[in-house]
Amino acid sequence: MGARSRLTRRGLLASSAAAAAGVLAAPAAAARAAAPVQVAEPVQVDGSAVEPFHGSHQAGVATTPQAHAAFLGLDLRSGVGREAVGRMMRLLSDDARRLTAGTPALADTEPELAVLPARLTVTFGFGPGLFAAAGLADSRPASVEPLPRFAIDKLESRWNGGDVLVQICSDDPLTVAHALRMIVKDARAFTRVRWIQRGFRRAAGVRKAGLTQRNVMGQLDGTANPVPGTPAFDRAVWAGGDAPAWLHGGTTLVLRRIRAELETWDAADRVAKEFTVGRRLDTGAPLTGAAEHDPPDFARLTAVGFPVISEYAHIRRAHSPDPAKGIFRRVYNYDDGLSAAGHADSGLIFASYQADVAAQFLPIQRRLAEADLLNEWTTPIGSAVFAIPPGCPPGGWIGQSLLE
Ligand code: HEM
Repeated sequence: MGARSRLTRRGLLASSAAAAAGVLAAPAAAARAAAPVQVAEPVQVDGSAVEPFHGSHQAGVATTPQAHAAFLGLDLRSGVGREAVGRMMRLLSDDARRLTAGTPALADTEPELAVLPARLTVTFGFGPGLFAAAGLADSRPASVEPLPRFAIDKLESRWNGGDVLVQICSDDPLTVAHALRMIVKDARAFTRVRWIQRGFRRAAGVRKAGLTQRNVMGQLDGTANPVPGTPAFDRAVWAGGDAPAWLHGGTTLVLRRIRAELETWDAADRVAKEFTVGRRLDTGAPLTGAAEHDPPDFARLTAVGFPVISEYAHIRRAHSPDPAKGIFRRVYNYDDGLSAAGHADSGLIFASYQADVAAQFLPIQRRLAEADLLNEWTTPIGSAVFAIPPGCPPGGWIGQSLLE
């Protein structure tokens, strides 16, 4: 019997480990649940705020996550090769440059919609098929290829793959819709739409910046992430060294669409939910700590000798002791409708950036696929991998270092 099949929800709830974990006693959890919910002081949103388009890295990775996102997967039309992809990228880079500055795209049919960028970023990525179509297979970073199939996957072809990625993020959903429309119009001659995934986080301005967001499962999500602007972030995220020279200053993106099984998650109590992740729901603190950013103590045992943070808890399985082997998660929620029975189609658009997919993302994903209590309530239904080229200086365009 595999580790995962032993880790059923019923098994967890009945497990002596859970019962033995003194810190998880039900009355304590109930008391925490009753504590008043903290409401942060609202702050004003500035619709004219601009994120710089030019620079050594593309915007939209280290950028403080905006409230709304659209991830667009495109396939190149047959016959579109290196020269045509270059033409398309010049055009799309120009659209992105103008729109992110709060000015209309060329031939913008609704120029008034461009004036409030609300921190708009447009980030481009290249999937495995682009390198083949452009005759540049030798320049493809080795691990920019479809991920191996994991036992937990229930992938649906409508969410997989893509030759070109356009990630559009803004604090204003109308700005996202407008930028998306402008980009798709200009990409039409070269590409067909493969998928579109829309995501959201907390609305801008409802609380102070710098706080960790919550996902649709109610968890604080993003606590143990490298911090943009630090050497640890730069090492984990930006490609250099062994990566192909054209990618230096860029990164890679693994985009997983992960459905949250909210109906069965609802049936779990707080003790089980916290045990599953290894962190508290209210504060996000590790089960061995008091505050969100206290480091988890994976060695701590309960009075009767069980690990306080389970061997199968999500944070233990996902943790990389070497920060250079870590990933940067910039996650969005999705909530795309209800079944007739009233069941939500919700989950995470799990965007993971790392310098190298094989060295960083894959070992973590393998550990999680092998045994992670959270698998009981989450199902990967989409998967795509892209190289994210570096940024460009004024007068340049995204992808130039590969395509010119
Ligand atoms: C729907 C799916 C998922 C949910 C709901 C989820 C939720 C969480 C939560 C609540 C935490 C703890 C707070 C934090 O540090 O952000 C966490 C940590 C983490 N997750 Fe996930 N996660 C999911 C999928 C994944 C996947 C697919 C990966 C990578 C393959 C991953 C990698 C990580 C890492 C690296 C950490 C930090 C571990 C550490 O403490 O060092 N997660 N996740």
